[in-house]
Amino acid sequence: MRLLLTGGSVFVDGGFRPLEIAVSEGRIVSVSPRLPRDGACVVELNNCFVVPGFVDVHVHLREPGFSYKETVASGTAAAAAGGYTAVCAMPNLNPPPDCPEHLRAELDAIERDARVHVYPYGTITRGEQGKALADLEGLAPYVPGFSDDGRGVQSGEMMRSAMVLAKRLDRPIAAHCEDESLLEKGWCVHDGDFARRHGLPGNSPASEWRQVERDIALVRETGCRYHVCHVSTRESVALIRAAKAEGLPVTCETGPHYLCLCDQDLEDDGRFKMNPPIRSAADRDALAAGLLDGTVDCIATDHAPHSAQEKAGGLRGSLNGVVGLECAFPVLYTELAKTGKVPLEVLLNALCVNPRRIFGLPGGTIAEGQPADLTVLRLDHAGTVNPAGFRSLGRATPFAGRRVEAAVSMTLVGGEIVFPEGLEPSPHGAIGIIRGADRPEGGTP
Ligand code: DOR
Repeated sequence: MRLLLTGGSVFVDGGFRPLEIAVSEGRIVSVSPRLPRDGACVVELNNCFVVPGFVDVHVHLREPGFSYKETVASGTAAAAAGGYTAVCAMPNLNPPPDCPEHLRAELDAIERDARVHVYPYGTITRGEQGKALADLEGLAPYVPGFSDDGRGVQSGEMMRSAMVLAKRLDRPIAAHCEDESLLEKGWCVHDGDFARRHGLPGNSPASEWRQVERDIALVRETGCRYHVCHVSTRESVALIRAAKAEGLPVTCETGPHYLCLCDQDLEDDGRFKMNPPIRSAADRDALAAGLLDGTVDCIATDHAPHSAQEKAGGLRGSLNGVVGLECAFPVLYTELAKTGKVPLEVLLNALCVNPRRIFGLPGGTIAEGQPADLTVLRLDHAGTVNPAGFRSLGRATPFAGRRVEAAVSMTLVGGEIVFPEGLEPSPHGAIGIIRGADRPEGGTP
């Protein structure tokens, strides 16, 4: 059925304009100040903002292998509620997708249950063990890139071989950079003020940036496209900035928690425990500066759900990983755009445009012929991040209880309304976006 989105401000050519969007058979069929109704189902957007669907290039959907933490169904429902129309799924699964046979179980779950597009990474090494290369050649047709996320590839030789092959296959390497030889045993926070004050073992920034430095040298040698996952340190930002200035094919992402928090904000609660850890105020500010000058390409949540029990051990005893899909945009808008630190357009490029460019994914512009993967935002909303209302099975977020001033109103994937659930367009009907009562983030509008 044809849908007509009216009354919204639409993100085109880097800015917002009052436009109508007609959608039919999964695609945008026209974008214009005024479009014929022609029996379409009219969606009244009441001054909401329409942007290309967000893409999160770093999520953990946990299926197959860890469905008690998250499933493709719950994780992609969370993605839809957060305004994401596509996610790239990390491969620390059981079995890990290190060959086409092992990828099959993940692809089956995606085909069966995904509510948004899911692009699964293949591993770099067999079983993510760092000892032998995965079947990169066999995996390449099915994956946007390769990653051993959750562990750094410790051997430079192994990373060199992976890059040579990935370059030939024209796929990027998405690297979790972590030099284990530079890690203090049992680290649970950033090696900084908070660690010293509380006598906690700290994670040194060098454990990240030394591996970024090693890999950039390998990119120079191999020419492989290389994307650094969850950058957390100012030194990594500086290295990546210099690599880009040199013209190397290096890109990176950081997460909302690294951009909006620092170790002064930590509490002894599992919802503040992740790898890499939340770092110093200087690191946080360097990441924001990197976002502003184009060094940091993408914002990715590293949505990493665990069970309540696994997150109940405080900073020392909880597993690494926090959820992010359902509160990322409201938090980023409130903390960065509303405060004037980062223009909204820069955030949107990092959420919608750059992830697609780097990983070669469809969409990203609101124009005739493009897939109708769209997100509708409210920027005049007052709410609170409330994990109890999340669709994700994971609830641990350092942003729980935060006041936010934006919300996701609607998400369309291939022209279908995937959030809010159960909103069925009917021919010649009309849908009004609900704007009245404020709702908690993650709650039902
Ligand atoms: O905090 C994290 N959680 N960092 C990682 O690198 C892995 C992830 C997970 O899989 O839980």
